[in-house]
Amino acid sequence: MKIKNVKFIKSSPSIKEVRLLVGGAEYAFIGRSNVGKSSLINMLTNSKFAKTSSTPGKTQLINHYMVNEQWYLVDLPGYGYAKTSKSKREDFMQFSKEYLLHSTRLRCIFLLIDIRIKPQQNDLNFMSWLGTNKLPFIRLFSKAEKLNDHKIKLAINHQNLEILKLWETAPPYIITSSKTGMGKDEILNKVEKYNTLSL
Ligand code: GTP
Ligand code: MG
Repeated sequence: MKIKNVKFIKSSPSIKEVRLLVGGAEYAFIGRSNVGKSSLINMLTNSKFAKTSSTPGKTQLINHYMVNEQWYLVDLPGYGYAKTSKSKREDFMQFSKEYLLHSTRLRCIFLLIDIRIKPQQNDLNFMSWLGTNKLPFIRLFSKAEKLNDHKIKLAINHQNLEILKLWETAPPYIITSSKTGMGKDEILNKVEKYNTLSL
């Protein structure tokens, strides 16, 4: 799929505000702070709309970007950043979860996982929460240009082994890098496929 245009639409602090938006399917990006969610949105759209930072905790609201005047990429705050106050972290998590549970246009969640670090409890917990709530998701392993092919394979095996302790089958994944564009076509193909499903 070709990205013809992208527009920043709105930053929302709650699902109530999201409900005011009109338009098509939504694809949400979530994961630990600093994992690369906003950078990936910029990579997919060849833009710099999403604010990125080497300091975790940059994205603090539910940000909607409309693509091809039709569907949305949704940038969510990250979880698990220790330096954000506990109450703020809980707020982010609560409104992100509320949004994921109640958005009527959400088609798929892209859960980013840093390929360079070992499986993290908060990611496993979050996947369990998605599974319990029957929310479809694809794991996006981020920052993959940092590892060679062999190390990528080892890292994914390790991730899958951990998740197979809890799940019957490992959820699907795509290997990505915002720096090199790795995974871009695969992600956009998924979006195209979901876009054809009726809303
Ligand atoms: P929060 O909004 O704080 O939750 O973070 P985020 O997940 O949106 O991360 P963001 O895109 O702001 O990127 C965090 C840091 O990771 C920045 O310093 C980026 O330059 C870096 N980064 C993002 N993607 C990649 C990647 O593919 N490769 C490498 N090497 N660094 C990346
Ligand atoms: Mg961000």
